[in-house]
Amino acid sequence: MNPPTRRECALVLALLLGILYFSNARIRTNLVPTPSSPPSHHPSQLNTLQGTTPQLYNTRLTWGNNQVPQTKVLASVPGWSIIDRLYIFKGVVYVVSDDPDSVPDVENMYSKGVEIFPGKEAEDTRLPGDEDIRIIGTAEAKALFGTGASIVDGVTFFVNDHPQFIRHYYHWSAELYFGFWRTYSSLDPAIPPEGNTTLPQPRHMFFNRLDAFRWRDPTNMNQLVLRSSLPEVTMEFRDDWDDRIKMGVPFVFDRVVLADRSAAMRAYNFQRYQRTASVPFALPGSVNWWMAIRNNVVQFAGMDLNDGSSTTATPVITYISRQAWGRRTLLQEDHEKLVKELYRLRDAHGWEVNVVLMEKLSRAEQIRLAVRTTIMMGVHGNGLTSLIWMRPTPRTTVIEFFYPGGFAHDYEYTARSLGIAHYGFWGDSSFTSPNMPLNAYPEGFQGNSIPVDAAAVGRLCYDRLTLSLEVDD
Ligand SMILES: *[C@@H]1O[C@H](CO)[C@@H](O)[C@H](O)[C@H]1NC(C)=O
Repeated sequence: MNPPTRRECALVLALLLGILYFSNARIRTNLVPTPSSPPSHHPSQLNTLQGTTPQLYNTRLTWGNNQVPQTKVLASVPGWSIIDRLYIFKGVVYVVSDDPDSVPDVENMYSKGVEIFPGKEAEDTRLPGDEDIRIIGTAEAKALFGTGASIVDGVTFFVNDHPQFIRHYYHWSAELYFGFWRTYSSLDPAIPPEGNTTLPQPRHMFFNRLDAFRWRDPTNMNQLVLRSSLPEVTMEFRDDWDDRIKMGVPFVFDRVVLADRSAAMRAYNFQRYQRTASVPFALPGSVNWWMAIRNNVVQFAGMDLNDGSSTTATPVITYISRQAWGRRTLLQEDHEKLVKELYRLRDAHGWEVNVVLMEKLSRAEQIRLAVRTTIMMGVHGNGLTSLIWMRPTPRTTVIEFFYPGGFAHDYEYTARSLGIAHYGFWGDSSFTSPNMPLNAYPEGFQGNSIPVDAAAVGRLCYDRLTLSLEVDD
């Protein structure tokens, strides 16, 4: 082959330049909307992307020579606080206040955020020091911060926890997220069953002790719950926290809902129920507090808010079986008798009965089934987490089987906090609030020979579903 002539080279060059020019023009038209093609999306709330008045971005809270704006704690119980104008600077959290007596004790808001081990000694090593959180006056704040701070706008959920209790559907959805929303929704105690709220959607979640890949759970429910209920939330992790530390400048949060597991463990409610999410129930709140989250998740799964369990529709009984797990299961014989009894009720009364292995259903199917279920039952375990999507009505019920003498509040407290009745079973006897045992893990609790009396469970189902209810649904 002959080497290319000069003319050929010039032609190739011209061709290349042409391609470059036209592709550039395409990129430019993609970026800048032309007046002749107005945006096609119609809801007016999506059309605020282009303002008319030029402005400086409002990225800084500047006080100049004036006093540093003080932090305000709006609500606080151990481990859960709502705080306006919380400052962070070089990795330390600052509450700026000239009235430190009005600020809750720092150990009730924050900790070292390390892994949690039982015992007083471990508890003491988790207490925060000056290198973690400080309460300072406005004069000291000015000396430290200078003339202003960069703003982290909107509402931020801030989690000062070790990864230990995050990568798990129950601990995420029914504990961390549950606690956050219960705390935050204390600012709107008038949430109706539809879930409408005056609360702005949170914008951020900060995890200062967690790597980005460590918040999803093995069943991928955590991200489904977050993205369907609060689609606007962006997340920051340990790397991002370190970036902010290394910049060496102060940041101020508009509003933070601060969660700290170790601090929550100091509360009476935790000591009584072993649940961090039980602590914010000391704050005011609507009985429909969870509906703002729950209804979005339910809609994501393809259900209407009015779908599902009611006091008039055909009852749906769902037994979530753990028999395939090989751990914490019913005696096989009792499981079989229970299934038979439930099918007998179905045939006698026309009720719907589902016997399911949760892990065999898709994520959306799990949610839809929970929404439709009137009575959910199963051995103590993660499968019962789905109860948080049930529709609370006077006959909505959760029945939980334990090894006799054993008990844990996880699903009991969760059900009760949503207005759902809960019954625990020990063989042929049952118990419900307020006559609850204390938590206990006798030998056999995790085993595969948990007894249950099918006839007793059947009688309870019958009673719950034939109660005469003097309520409009
Ligand atoms: C809730 O909000 C929706 C949509 O904005 C509205 O149609 C509905 O009437 C509201 N319901 C209540 C109880 O405020």
